[in-house]
Amino acid sequence: MMIQCPECGNVIEDAIANCPSCGCLLAGDDEPTRIDKLPSFESGAKVADRYEIISEVGKGGFGRVFRAQDLEAKRSVALKVLNPAIMSEEGVHARFLGELKIAKRVAHPNVIRPFDVLELAGSCVIVMEFVEGQSLKQMIRNEGQFDIQKAKTIISQVCLGLDAAHQVGVVHRDIKPQNILITKNLGVKIVDFGLARHLGGRSISHTGMILGTPDYMSPEQVSGKTVDARSDIYSLGVVMYEMFTGKLPFTGETSVALIMAHLRKPPESPKRLRPELPPWISYMILKAMAKKPSKRFRKSTEILEHMERSIEQTEGVPDEESPTPVPVKTQRPPIIKAPESRRPIWADRKWRLLSAALFCFILLLAVVAFIAIRTHFESSGMVRHIISVAKQYEEQLDYYGAYQTYISGINEVPGSVSLYVRAAIAYIQHFSRQHPSVLIFFLLGALIVLSALLFLIQRKLKR
Ligand SMILES: Nc1ncnc2c1ncn2[C@@H]1O[C@H](COP(=O)(O)OP(=O)(O)OP(=O)(O)O)[C@@H](O)[C@H]1O
Ligand SMILES: [Mg+2]
Repeated sequence: MMIQCPECGNVIEDAIANCPSCGCLLAGDDEPTRIDKLPSFESGAKVADRYEIISEVGKGGFGRVFRAQDLEAKRSVALKVLNPAIMSEEGVHARFLGELKIAKRVAHPNVIRPFDVLELAGSCVIVMEFVEGQSLKQMIRNEGQFDIQKAKTIISQVCLGLDAAHQVGVVHRDIKPQNILITKNLGVKIVDFGLARHLGGRSISHTGMILGTPDYMSPEQVSGKTVDARSDIYSLGVVMYEMFTGKLPFTGETSVALIMAHLRKPPESPKRLRPELPPWISYMILKAMAKKPSKRFRKSTEILEHMERSIEQTEGVPDEESPTPVPVKTQRPPIIKAPESRRPIWADRKWRLLSAALFCFILLLAVVAFIAIRTHFESSGMVRHIISVAKQYEEQLDYYGAYQTYISGINEVPGSVSLYVRAAIAYIQHFSRQHPSVLIFFLLGALIVLSALLFLIQRKLKR
C-alpha cells in the first residue's frame, strides 16, 4: 500500500518506517508496544525507555496530553494518555486499538497520524507528532471573528485533511476547534483521528460512552444514527460558523437542550451576527450545517471548490454586489430559506407603502369620479340656475358675492357636492384677492410639506 509522507508529501511504501526524503518517522508497527508498569508522567520521566516527558500540554475528555522528546527519533512528540476509567469498560480497549489501526490509514500532511501506541496496564498512550502552535479554539478565543483570507487558508487545509480520511473510509466524528491544531505558519493538523470509527464498523459510543461535547455534533450523531463523512461536514459547518461569527450557533443550559437545538432549531443567519459577511460565506456555513445530510456538501472538497469559485467572483467586487452563492457542480442548489423569504409579501415595508399609495390613488379617483357624476346630474334645474347667478358675480370679480350665492344655494339643494366645491373655490378666490401675500405663503408651505413627504416616501421605498 502506498502512503503519503505527512511531513513532505512524498509518496512512499507503507512498510518503510522513515520517509526516505525527509526522514520523518512514519507510523510504527501495527502491534502496540506493551508496558506492564504504569509509568510516571512527571517532567523528566521516561516512558517505555524512549520518550522523555517535558511538560503537560492540556487535558481533554479522554485523557491528558504531554509534550515529550523521542530519544530514538530525536524529535518532539505528543503523548496522549487515555483516561483508564474510559478504557476499563469491557471491550473498549480492543475496539479502540482496532480503530486506531484504521486511523493510521489516513496519510496526509494535514492529519496527525499516531506514530505508536503504548499499551499500558488498563490504559493506552498514543504517540504522535507534536504540533508547535495553538489549537483553533485558542485562536477563536483570542481573535474573535476571523479575517476571511485567514479563515479560508485554515478551512481549505481542514477540507483536504478530511477528504483524505473520508477517501479511505475514516470518519473523524469529533471535528471541533480543539482538535484542529494550527502551526505558526497557519498550517493545519487535524488531531484525534484515533477516535474516529471505520465506516460500517461499530462505534465506541455504542457502549454508552459520550464522545466529547455535543457543541459540534451532527443531528444524526446526537440521535445515535449511523454517521458518514457528511457528519464531519456538519461539524466543520459549526466550526466555520464559530470562526466567522465568533459564536457557536447553539448554546444550551443542558446537553439535552443543545442536542434538541442541533436536531430541530435552524441556526441564526451568520450574516445577522456579522452583516459585512459576503453571502457566499453564509451560504457555505448554512449548507454545511443543513439538518438533513442529503442537503449538505457531499464531500469536503466541494466546500473547497465553493470557496475558490466565490472568491474568484468577488475579487474586486464591492461587498453589496457580491454574487449569489455558486452551486457546486453535481449538486442541486440547496434550499436554504432565509427567514425573509418565508414572510408574506404584505409584511414587507416596501409593499405596505406601495399598497397604501395605490389605495390613496384609487380613493382619489373614486372621489373625482363621484364629483364629476354628481355635477353632471345636478347641472340641471335649480343647481344650474344658482351656478349661472353666481357666475355673474364671478364675471364682475365679486367672488364673495358668488360665494354667498353658492352658500344660499346649498341651503336650497342640500348635499350638492358641486355647490360645496364651487363655494370653496369662490372663497379661496375672494381670500386671495383680499390677502394675496398670505396665499403665497400658504402655497409655498404646502409645496415644502409635499416635497418633504415625497422625499421621505422615496427613501423608504429605496430601503
Ligand atoms: N499532537 C499535539 N500537539 C500539540 N498539542 C496537542 C496535540 N494533541 C493535543 N494537543 C493539545 O492538548 C490539549 C488537550 O487535548 P485533548 O485532545 O486531550 O483534549 P480536547 O481536544 O480538548 O478534547 P477531546 O478529549 O474531546 O479530544 C489541547 O489543548 C490540544 O490543543
Ligand atoms: Mg482532542
